[in-house]
Amino acid sequence: MKFFIDTANLAQIQEANELGILDGVTTNPSLMAKEGIKGEAAVMNHYKTICEIVDGAISAEVVSTEFNEMVEEGKKLAAIHPNIVVKVPMIKDGVKALKWFTENGIRTNCTLVFSAGQAILAAKAGATFVSPFIGRIDDSSWDGVELISQIANIYGIQGFKTEILAASIRSPLHIVKCAEAGADVCTCPLDSILGLLKHPLTDIGLAKFVEDAKKFA
Ligand code: E4P
Repeated sequence: MKFFIDTANLAQIQEANELGILDGVTTNPSLMAKEGIKGEAAVMNHYKTICEIVDGAISAEVVSTEFNEMVEEGKKLAAIHPNIVVKVPMIKDGVKALKWFTENGIRTNCTLVFSAGQAILAAKAGATFVSPFIGRIDDSSWDGVELISQIANIYGIQGFKTEILAASIRSPLHIVKCAEAGADVCTCPLDSILGLLKHPLTDIGLAKFVEDAKKFA
C-alpha cells in the first residue's frame, strides 16, 4: 500500500518525506486555504514547491464545477510538473472531465466519493485514483472501511485498474483497517502516520536495551 500525506503544509510534508516512506501528497481547497495561500500564482507556486519536495503523485484539485472550466484548470495544473495528478469532484461534469483527462494522458484523482456506485463511475471514466472519504462516512455513522472493502471487491471482479485511495483518514487504526480492506493508497494526516510508530512495549523494550547496552559499553 502506498502512503500519501494529506496536507498542504510544507513543514509536515518535509517531515513525512524524511521518513522515507512517502509516495505522494494530496491537497484540497480547504487544506490550501488553511495555509493562507491566495491567488492563482501563489497556488501554482505552492504545488510546484510540493513537487520539488516529494517525488511522487501530487494531487492538485480543480475548483471549477463546469466541464470546460475543469478541463482548462486541469491542463494548467498538469503543466506545473509531470507528477501532478488532477483532482476532480464526483459530479456529472466531473465524470466527463475525468474521461477527457484520461483520453489526453493526464492522471486524475476522483474526489468526494461516498458510494460504490460513484467508484464504479470513476473507474469507467478511467480515473487513476478514486478517493472514498472514509472518515466523513464514519462521522455520519456509516462504515467507511466497509466501503473500501466493497470497492476493492468490485474492482477485483471487474478488473478495473483505478487505484483505491482511502481518504479522510482520522487515525492510525483507519490506516491498518484500510490496508486490510484492500486500499492501494492511504492519504493521511502526519499525526496518523506517526501514530503507527507507537507501542508501549517498544518504548519499554528500548529503554531496557539502552540501559543494558551501558553494561558492555
Ligand atoms: C483527500 O484527498 C481529501 O481531500 C481529504 O482526505 C479529506 O479529509 P477530511 O475529511 O479530513 O477533510
